[in-house]
Amino acid sequence: MSTLTKLALGAMGQLRPRPARGNAAPKIALPAPDKTGGMPLMEAIARRRSMREFSRKELPLPLLANLLWAANGINRADGGRTAPSAMNAQEIDIYVALASGAYLYDAKANELQLVAGNDVRRVTGYQDFVDEAPLDLVYIADHSRMKLIPVSQRGSFASAAAGAVAQNVYLFAAGNGLATVIRAWIDREAIANALGLPHDHQVLLSQTVGFQGE
Ligand SMILES: Cc1cc2nc3c(=O)[nH]c(=O)nc-3n(C[C@H](O)[C@H](O)[C@H](O)COP(=O)(O)O)c2cc1C
Repeated sequence: MSTLTKLALGAMGQLRPRPARGNAAPKIALPAPDKTGGMPLMEAIARRRSMREFSRKELPLPLLANLLWAANGINRADGGRTAPSAMNAQEIDIYVALASGAYLYDAKANELQLVAGNDVRRVTGYQDFVDEAPLDLVYIADHSRMKLIPVSQRGSFASAAAGAVAQNVYLFAAGNGLATVIRAWIDREAIANALGLPHDHQVLLSQTVGFQGE
């Protein structure tokens, strides 16, 4: 769908998901992430950039599992995460929009939990490539986990934490030859509706990931 059509539908509150491709499983168990090796950090940083041309090819599950772990997985015995959060509130949830459905990444269980049994990808942003790229991530702040943080600061702290998650994804993409771009040009209400989010959940940013291509 073109950006213009999306903008028009968005203005009318009509930007909606498509039917899912295939049957969405209620849960997808992820393979254990491979936490070793990979491209040297300085080389990955040197390669980091935004790309907006994506192949439609699906990401294999082990690659998706590694990506999500790098993004905001658990990297310590005490439950600490790969991305920082103010007062360790861990308020950022990653929603994973695939052709087969939209899922919540549960880092502790290392699984994806179905939240919408349709194809939410087109709703995750106004740009046309988001519809067909294999993976659109959406970063959501669960404000119920931020009770110790002053209300006036919750939004900016959560945005900073989501930025750290996004940079993890950028570096993972650079290190694995994937394309990615973080996106703030999104219809937050449409996304919240499509994912069935409660009112204390704030839609922050989206990020598309896929193999490089067109
Ligand atoms: C908060 C934020 C929001 C952004 N929103 C969008 C967006 O909606 N669409 C897009 O294509 N790029 C978006 N970008 C990516 C920037 O355009 C990109 O990072 C910038 O042009 C620099 O390019 P580089 O990432 O290759 O260094 C965003 C970046 C940030 C940090």
